[in-house]
Amino acid sequence: MYRVFYLVLIITFSLNAISQKLQTSKQISSGLFGVFFEDINYAADGGLYAEMVQNRSFEYNPAERLEWHPFSYWEYITPGFSYGNISIETNYPIHPNNPHYAVLTVEHVGHYPEFKGEPGVGLKNYGFDGMVIRSGEKYCFSLFAQLLSEKPVKLLIALQDRKGLFVAQNNIQINSTSWQKYETILHATSGCDSCSIIVLAQSEGKLALDMISLFPEKTFKNRQNGLRADLAQVIADMKPKFIRFPGGCLVHGDGLGNMYRWKNTIGPVEQRKEQRNIWGYHQSVGLGFFEYFQFCEDIGAKPLPVLPAAVSCQNSGGTWRIGGKGQKAVPMEQMPDYIQDVLDLIEWANGPVSSKWGSKRAEAGHPEPFNLEYIGIGNEDKMTPEFAERFTMIYNAIKGKYPNIKVVGTAGPFHSGEDFDIGWQLAQKLNVDIIDEHYYVTPEWFIANQHRYDNYNRNSCKVYLGEYASWGNKLWNALAEAAYMTSLERNGDIVAMASYAPLLAKKGFTQWKTDMIFFDNKSICLTPNYYVQHLFMNNQGDIYYENIFKKEDLDTTLAFSCLKNSKSGDVILKIVNLSDEKKTLSVDLSEFKKILPDAEITILTGNREDENTFKNPNKVVPVKNVYRVSKKFNYIAIPFSLIIIRIKTKNDKYE
Ligand code: AHR
Repeated sequence: MYRVFYLVLIITFSLNAISQKLQTSKQISSGLFGVFFEDINYAADGGLYAEMVQNRSFEYNPAERLEWHPFSYWEYITPGFSYGNISIETNYPIHPNNPHYAVLTVEHVGHYPEFKGEPGVGLKNYGFDGMVIRSGEKYCFSLFAQLLSEKPVKLLIALQDRKGLFVAQNNIQINSTSWQKYETILHATSGCDSCSIIVLAQSEGKLALDMISLFPEKTFKNRQNGLRADLAQVIADMKPKFIRFPGGCLVHGDGLGNMYRWKNTIGPVEQRKEQRNIWGYHQSVGLGFFEYFQFCEDIGAKPLPVLPAAVSCQNSGGTWRIGGKGQKAVPMEQMPDYIQDVLDLIEWANGPVSSKWGSKRAEAGHPEPFNLEYIGIGNEDKMTPEFAERFTMIYNAIKGKYPNIKVVGTAGPFHSGEDFDIGWQLAQKLNVDIIDEHYYVTPEWFIANQHRYDNYNRNSCKVYLGEYASWGNKLWNALAEAAYMTSLERNGDIVAMASYAPLLAKKGFTQWKTDMIFFDNKSICLTPNYYVQHLFMNNQGDIYYENIFKKEDLDTTLAFSCLKNSKSGDVILKIVNLSDEKKTLSVDLSEFKKILPDAEITILTGNREDENTFKNPNKVVPVKNVYRVSKKFNYIAIPFSLIIIRIKTKNDKYE
């Protein structure tokens, strides 16, 4: 009798112990932190997209900017007392999607002994504020041309510095009377930060020119039509688990005609349909859906393309002041076609080569599927009945045909309010997989709201925090974001994904004040916010552990998390000290059977107001070191710091 009693007691104790243990850890999203790329702040053309010629296709126009026209950023040149003329025409374009091209007539090439340079009639382009040419590097030049006169025309292609000296040059002979692509390599014998490219006809005749293009030979992963290697690399260095693209407001666009239509962005670049960028400039869409998917694959990130929910931005027509009444909806009779476009994207990404859209992916050089898992529908749209009706139609069509694709819905532009509430209600009604929340707020908001997700319903839609930032690039902002990110990890069972925004910003060309990565044509300035993102992304885990740290209750200046990465076996501790005092934390790792004493510690710290600048880009950078750990230890966190301690639990020697 006593034996049975003891047995029951032991079993009960063990079960309690097991369940307590179970409660101290939980499975969280293994793909929590990724990046959000939007073509804002010249992030694409003039930025990540490595094309160096601005307005290569003569498609700039006054609808984008009043002062713009098809010849913007080009100069007509006639060195050596040469003469002729230039016009922009539309009669016989390479493709109807790309209607404008230049027609150059050379009447006379001056040959005067007093002129020492290269004579001819042609065009000059400074790119996006001067091209940075590096000595010893190669540049891939190409153009489309059509001979409109009898004799072949000789073109001189040269990279010229501000003083007029050529740093690279080569020749092309135009001899085809139909549009043809010509290419040559320019080898730079010296460098310059502010070069231009010239295309100079040096024999008499007439020809049509379009898609005048220059890429560095060294693009990211040496892709053709590729990405600027240094910028792509700093994104890749973060090891994002996903990339959301191509926006943002850019997706739903300024009116129906300005919506992002993915089909216009694939195929040969000269056949893509360029358009106005809602942020006040031009989208060449040379960086289009193929290039986005390829970039994701190149850096091991899952693609998260976002398509409009068949409504335009509520602020279309600049109607910020009248309360978001600018939303326009695709007419119902056009919805079947619209929905088909959405379904076609999934077939394009995942379908077999034998399928209509899968074959287009293969034609672009990628017969293997891209393994698309997620698709976003809508971007912080106004929650009108028109939106709800269209979103529901698109959602049902996707789920009907592709039940395994996870749909990301949208919950308006703020962390609360009418659009947020209605967005959530609709998502819950439809049982949408993931819902995209956005908020740009103060650092203090992030600090005060670290418990936002603790009480979210665990049996409802998951959350994607698709856009967040704390209005600043000081260390203080970055640390407030870091503290909040530990709370996202704590709630990683329901917060499936999160991405800071915006990602890229070109110095002098920004439309959004605080961004993660600043760049000019030559260099990059990484913000403290970047380093926070970098450290969290490089230290992701899939199991969250409670009760590892002890701290005084109600101390909101300390935040922490403990994760395990089950692939590597590493235990990852993150500590954020937001105060101006040292803070002591006791750490108890008894939970883990075996830990190796030599851990890696990375600390990001400085003064609260510190920020990085182009002049002083390394003021706030993380510093790595070795740190001895034991099963139980006290850690003293220095003021204003993010600390990551990465502890190995696996080592062949010890197995
Ligand atoms: O990230 C900048 C903008 O902020 C995005 O385009 C939009 O979604 C949000 O309002």
